[in-house]
Amino acid sequence: MDFRFTEEQENIRKMVRDFVEKEVAPGAAERDEGESFAPTYELLKKMGKLGLMGLPYPKEYGGAGADQITYALVGFEINRVDASLGCAYSVHISLSGWPIFYYGTEEQRQKYSVPMFKGEKLGAFALTEPNAGSDSGASQCTAVLDGDHYVLNGTKCFCTNAGFADVYVVFAMTDKSKGVKGISAFIVEKDTPGFNFAKQERKMGIRSTVQREIVMENVRVPRENLLGKEGEGFKIAMTTLDGGRIGIAAQGAGIAMGAYEYALKYAKERHQFGKPIAQQQAIAFKLADMFTKIDAAKLLTLYAAHKKDLGLPFSAEAASAKKFATNTAMEVTTEAVQILGGHGFLRDHPVERMMRDAKITQIYEGTNEIQNVVISGIILR
Ligand code: CAA
Repeated sequence: MDFRFTEEQENIRKMVRDFVEKEVAPGAAERDEGESFAPTYELLKKMGKLGLMGLPYPKEYGGAGADQITYALVGFEINRVDASLGCAYSVHISLSGWPIFYYGTEEQRQKYSVPMFKGEKLGAFALTEPNAGSDSGASQCTAVLDGDHYVLNGTKCFCTNAGFADVYVVFAMTDKSKGVKGISAFIVEKDTPGFNFAKQERKMGIRSTVQREIVMENVRVPRENLLGKEGEGFKIAMTTLDGGRIGIAAQGAGIAMGAYEYALKYAKERHQFGKPIAQQQAIAFKLADMFTKIDAAKLLTLYAAHKKDLGLPFSAEAASAKKFATNTAMEVTTEAVQILGGHGFLRDHPVERMMRDAKITQIYEGTNEIQNVVISGIILR
C-alpha cells in the first residue's frame, strides 16, 4: 500500500487548486445568489481549455488520459469551493461522457465523445421521470422504431445541464412487456425537434446549476444513435451510476473540506471568553471530528476510484463512498455553521451555502437509502 499520489496526479490537483482559487472561488457566492447557470457554463468552457472536460478518458479521443484517482482529486478541489460547478462537471464526465464512450460505437465516439472531451460540447443524462425516481426501472417514456428512426415520447425531470447541454443520454422503453430489460438508451442532440425544455427547478442549493424538465413529443432519433443494444438501457444506467457515485462521493468530501477549512480558520481568529474559540474544547472536538470524517470520506472515495482503475468490481465501494462522504458533507457543513454561530447563518460566509449544497448530495445519483439497497444487494448475494 502506498498512500502517496503520483507526480502527475499531484500536478493536476495543484493546477486545479490554482484554477479554482483564482477563477471559481471569488464568484461562487454571487453565482449562487444569481441562481443562473450561465456563469457556471462559462467556467466549464475554461475547464475545457485546461483539458479537464475529458480528464479520465484516453488522449486519442480528446481526453487527458488521467485515472479515476485523479478524477476524484479534481472533484475534491472543485467542490471544495463550488458544488454547483462540481455537479455540472460530474454529470458531464460521469453520467454522459462515460456511457457514450464505454457503450458507444467508434462512430458515436468520434461524433460525440471527442468534442465532449475537448470541452466543445456539454453532456447531460436524462433518466429520472416524474413517476420513476428511485425506481428508475419504472420508466414511462417510450421509444418506437419507425423506419430508420426511433420516435421518443414522454417526460424526463431534474435533468442537470438541460437546455445548455448539447448531448443527452436518454432512457426510454422500447418494449414495455420486458420490464427493465425493455429499456434502451439513446444519444439525443439538443436541437432535435420535439425535444422541449420545460420547467426549470428552483432549489435550496446548487443554485448555479440548472435542472429542467424535458418533454419529448415525437422526437425522431436516428437509429444509429441507439446506445448499446436494444434492452441494454437499464444496465447502461446502473453501470453509469456506479461510476457517477464516485464523482458524488468526491463532491461530498470536497464540500466538507471547504466548510472545515473555513470553520478552522474562523475558530482560530474568533475570540470569546478571552481566547480563540478553537481553544475551547467544545469547538476543538468538533473540528477534530470533522477532520476524522473528512479523511474517512476521502479514503473511501479514493478506494472506490482505485478499484475502478484496476478494473475490479466497485459498485458496493462506490455506493459506500457516496453514502458516507455525502453524509459527512451534511454533518461537517452543519457543524461549520454551528462553529461560526450567528455569523454562520449569514450569507456573508460561505458555510450556509455549503450546508444547502450538501443536502442534495444525500439525494441525487441515488438517495443514500438507495445506496443501502445497492450495498445490501451485493453483500447478501
Ligand atoms: N451493474 C450492472 N447491472 C446491474 C446493476 C449494476 N450496478 N444494478 C442492477 N443491475 C441489473 C441486475 O443485475 C438485474 O439484471 P438481472 O435480472 O439480469 O440480474 C437488473 O439490472 C435489475 O436489477 P434490480 O432488480 O436490482 O433493479 P431494481 O429495479 O430493483 O432497481 C435500484 C435497482 C438500485 C433501486 C435502481 O433502480 C437505482 O439505482 N435507483 C436509483 C436511481 C438513481 O440513482 N437515479 C439518479 C438519477 S441521476 C442524477 O441524480 C443526476 C444528477 O442530477 C446529478
